[in-house]
Amino acid sequence: MARKIVLTSGKGGVGKTSISASLGISLANRNNRCLIIDADVGLNNLDVVMGVENQLVYDMADVISGKCTISNALIQDKYNAGLYILPSSHAFNDVQVSAAEFRSLIYRLEDSFDFILIDCPAGIDVGFHRAVSGADEAIVVTTPHISAIRDGDKVLSMLASYGLNSISVIVNRVRGDLVLQGNMMSAEDIAKVLRYPLIGVVPEDDNLTIYSQLGRIGLNAHQSRIAVDLIADNILSGKTRLYDPTLRYKGLIGKLKMWLEKSI
Ligand SMILES: Nc1ncnc2c1ncn2[C@@H]1O[C@H](COP(=O)(O)OP(=O)(O)OP(=O)(O)O)[C@@H](O)[C@H]1O
Ligand SMILES: [Mg+2]
Repeated sequence: MARKIVLTSGKGGVGKTSISASLGISLANRNNRCLIIDADVGLNNLDVVMGVENQLVYDMADVISGKCTISNALIQDKYNAGLYILPSSHAFNDVQVSAAEFRSLIYRLEDSFDFILIDCPAGIDVGFHRAVSGADEAIVVTTPHISAIRDGDKVLSMLASYGLNSISVIVNRVRGDLVLQGNMMSAEDIAKVLRYPLIGVVPEDDNLTIYSQLGRIGLNAHQSRIAVDLIADNILSGKTRLYDPTLRYKGLIGKLKMWLEKSI
């Protein structure tokens, strides 16, 4: 039976979809059957990040309304036979998919996968409840920005009432140079403030944006991929090895790099 993990956040745009896609790829690359569900009904973009938007015929809304079977709506990843995407719908009215319908969809899928990742919409309203009610583990994604951390704290306190097996935090878009200069909180300090365990640290990485726009997020060995691979290992092993975004700015060469990056 699949482990069902929701990736959620209080503030929008912190990287839930990017990390859901990368994490799904990392888990599938480690021989796990993995499904990523786009639970952002009405505003989905997981299909674009995964580069499958042209293959989209049916979506979650069509399955729920009985227009097609689940297997009609699942899209197999181009590069990994063990990875599938269930798209949500641009056109579907958000309130028309109930939490119960979403949950029953997941129950029908859970025996076919090792992992079901649920890419949640931002915020704490109906879409949040629907996505979280289908999961048994949650990961809250935040960035080091104060507003994202504060909204993450609100989401964490709401998650506490869902009876989940585990709740952890990913800090995304960390800049090692700013952390070393004391101008950005470290991921470890953010997790201490939030009082939940840190399961991953992902650096600020322009390549993530470039390759996700091209629908090729999994194909390049950029720094954020290394960081997400560590998260996949943590999920599988229960251990915690974290990416250190400050490492490349340490030592003589690192200091030179930091100086050069500041001056361009
Ligand atoms: N580590 C990163 N480094 C650089 N850019 C990033 C990083 N993570 C995400 N981004 C960029 O931030 C933007 C928002 O990311 P994404 O869509 O994954 O966020 P989201 O939390 O799913 O947003 P929403 O709440 O709207 O669903 C995208 O342009 C993405 O490429
Ligand atoms: Mg998103």
